[in-house]
Amino acid sequence: MSRNLRVGILTGGGDCPGLNAVIRAVGKSLILRHNAQVIGIENGFEGLIKRNVRSLDYQDVSGILTLGGTVLGTSNKCDPFNYHASGGADVSAEVVHNCKNIGLDAIVAIGGDGTLTIAHQLAMKGLNVVGVPKTIDNDLVATERTFGFDTAVSIATEAIDRLQTTAQSHQRVMIIETMGRYAGWIALYAGTAGGADIILIPEVPYDVDEVIRVCRERERSGQHFTIICIAEGACALGGQRVAKAHVADSPDPIRLGGIANYLAADLRTELRSEIRTSVLGHIQRGGTPTAYDRNLATAFGAFAAAMVARGDFGKMVSLQNNTLNSVSLTEVAGKNRLVPLDSTMVAAALAVGTSFGSADMRADITDGVSAAAIT
Ligand code: F6P
Repeated sequence: MSRNLRVGILTGGGDCPGLNAVIRAVGKSLILRHNAQVIGIENGFEGLIKRNVRSLDYQDVSGILTLGGTVLGTSNKCDPFNYHASGGADVSAEVVHNCKNIGLDAIVAIGGDGTLTIAHQLAMKGLNVVGVPKTIDNDLVATERTFGFDTAVSIATEAIDRLQTTAQSHQRVMIIETMGRYAGWIALYAGTAGGADIILIPEVPYDVDEVIRVCRERERSGQHFTIICIAEGACALGGQRVAKAHVADSPDPIRLGGIANYLAADLRTELRSEIRTSVLGHIQRGGTPTAYDRNLATAFGAFAAAMVARGDFGKMVSLQNNTLNSVSLTEVAGKNRLVPLDSTMVAAALAVGTSFGSADMRADITDGVSAAAIT
């Protein structure tokens, strides 16, 4: 009689609300439906290099649905193909060897583009890998949503709501900076949900003069406060992205952040209103996931377990047209999904008078509001 399936789970890259909900769903589903043995791999791919793994039984994956972070730990500094701790050596052969030794039949890798690119490379080396799309940034290709995004948007929206009341009371211009790396999804969705007057995203380099014009127009028309929601990856026309740190041993070493302060400096000399900035940072990644993210993470995890059971490897769980599917990791590796400017949400924001800091982008493209999918 053949032995039971032995499946490893790892979480890689930045932490994200919903990681534990996926671990729970993959684990419970594999144990209950497939009588599999589940192995937790600690701190992302690092655990496969150092062989830091532990058996996860039903109790271990129970009671973690609502927990933020990841019970397995994670790392955004460990690429086995360029392992910094060994001077940039390719230790992928060791990873493959260790997986065989541990007796893993498959690995479920929960992560963003960095983790899934490594997962793809390991799949090319013969490992049976299933990917689950995670990131608050929502910037993965081949899936309409990643889990964690809804929670980040909810947190950022609540922050904007709170800034609205203080902005009104003091008649100030409030600039709130969201995360999102090179994509503007969080700023677009939170800015629209919070009724920001100006939303600045990396996909639309902003014109400072246009931002000033909108703020002045509001001052003139008696609306003595303005909320600007700016994505960390946004930049002014002809300007540069602002990096707050360089993490040398990370596969993606640039850490964006701080553009809000540059924008504030540009506006300060031009506007009568006082200006304040709030950089939300990692608050967007912490804490308990929203109900939507818990459900999405549970559905992703259960689907990933089913993929393992039917041997659907080298692929990632994907959500398209509200339906779960599996797509090849080749489609996902090394790519980012930006906000399409003809999307329904951009059109809707324009239709209610939101400025994107560009005079060229006015409500004339609001015809897109009638499109069916909210992207
Ligand atoms: O990818 C998620 C994310 O939070 C980005 O939005 C942000 O740019 C980055 O990670 C921050 O990384 P770190 O946690 O290393 O500061």
